[in-house]
Amino acid sequence: MNSAKLTVNLGGDEKSMDLPVLIGTEAEVALDIRNLRQQLGVIVLDPAYGNTGSCTSAITYIDGEKGILRYRGIPIEQLGEKSTFVEVSYLLINGRLPNKHELSEYSRKLTMHSLIHEDMKHFFDGYPATAHPMAILSAMVCSLSSFYPEALDATNTEVFDITATRLLSKLRTIAAFSYKKSIGQPFMYPKNELSYCANLIHMMFATPCEPYPIDDDIVKVINLLLILHADHEQNCSTSTVRLVGSGQANLFASIASGICALWGPRHGGANQEVITMLAQIRKNGDDVNKFLTLVKDRQSGVKLMGFGHRVYKNFDPRAVLIKSAADKVLSKLGRNDPLLETAKRLEEAALKDSYFVDRRLYPNVDFYSGIIYRALGFATNMFTVLFALGRLPGWIAQWKEMNEDPSTRIGRPRQVYTGNTALDYTPIDQRE
Ligand code: CMC
Repeated sequence: MNSAKLTVNLGGDEKSMDLPVLIGTEAEVALDIRNLRQQLGVIVLDPAYGNTGSCTSAITYIDGEKGILRYRGIPIEQLGEKSTFVEVSYLLINGRLPNKHELSEYSRKLTMHSLIHEDMKHFFDGYPATAHPMAILSAMVCSLSSFYPEALDATNTEVFDITATRLLSKLRTIAAFSYKKSIGQPFMYPKNELSYCANLIHMMFATPCEPYPIDDDIVKVINLLLILHADHEQNCSTSTVRLVGSGQANLFASIASGICALWGPRHGGANQEVITMLAQIRKNGDDVNKFLTLVKDRQSGVKLMGFGHRVYKNFDPRAVLIKSAADKVLSKLGRNDPLLETAKRLEEAALKDSYFVDRRLYPNVDFYSGIIYRALGFATNMFTVLFALGRLPGWIAQWKEMNEDPSTRIGRPRQVYTGNTALDYTPIDQRE
């Protein structure tokens, strides 16, 4: 068995132990420190978890040096070209591709669970029209748990399938309803004859006044976008879902937490911020180099949104596929978005600039996705909602994997305390 010897010398008191070495199927090497504190009385400090594996997982593989992303072993490029979001959801959650019968049964179930309880429709009335749809999305997902009390017991594996199906189907309805609410249009009920992505388009863009034609190429590109977002191993929101779930919170509550974690501009909220940034650059004279100078001035606090990644250090394979899809969508729709042109110049200038080259900063999934969403007619504040919809099967798969692992314990990091040592309480009349 592989092992690593760790020796700790604290004021001359030397203690050592052999740490087991774990090697993953893609040769990732990890030191198993589970018994470190117990044996040596020390912990490891790793803020932001850059060097910490929180679990073993068989769902998604990323090689950040080579730009590889695979779900259950299958490259993202193949899934993007040949699969659908529904099939990828099955793959992530169940661990393998479905056969014909399994896929049609799975799609049928997703179709049958698309409605939300009529009482939930009234919840939307309580929000101001200006409410950010991510706020509505997370609240509504948590509220689903009040309609399905059987799902409250996270240890009840028998209800997992139906709960996951409900979530996958209803998140799309809730997303569309939150959009309709924000623009003051009537909610559009799902139509059972439509596929998952076609139904999303219908609920978002149709009105009761006239039929809304659904274009197969647009359905294909929505499938692609959702597939590209479907999982990304132990990122911020997924780790949140696992951490909340490790306390045995139910699936709805765990996913609602993941939605909140995704909202931040350093994570899924970046897709909305990219558009705001591009619009600002254009408004200020469309000078991309001037903007990059601002980014490089550390005092400014300005980041190049849609650039950089904790894991990808050469390119983000999702960004490559999205960039080419953006070109196709815009030419198909006959749109000429000036922001796309600014984005391309910005990318080109950044990739030549030593600040970004030296730090190995490349466009990530969020850099071009907003351009496509805009072209398709989605409002900017809906972009992160679409990210959440895409990421949902990954969150569910990770929650399930964690719950099925008998070694799972509640997630509970330690800390290195740096505050006061013991102090006596000072009565208020003796304080300065
Ligand atoms: N613009 C300017 N400088 C950057 C950027 C950026 N977008 N990203 C990283 N840097 C700098 C950073 O300041 C640091 O410089 P230095 O070493 O001189 O202090 C260096 O590059 C390393 O960055 P880091 O902050 O240590 O990287 P991280 O792994 O902690 O953060 C990140 C990753 C994605 C949060 C960060 O790159 C970022 O804020 N990017 C912009 C927001 C964004 O696009 N987020 C979407 C991420 S992909 C989709 C998703 O998973 O949600």
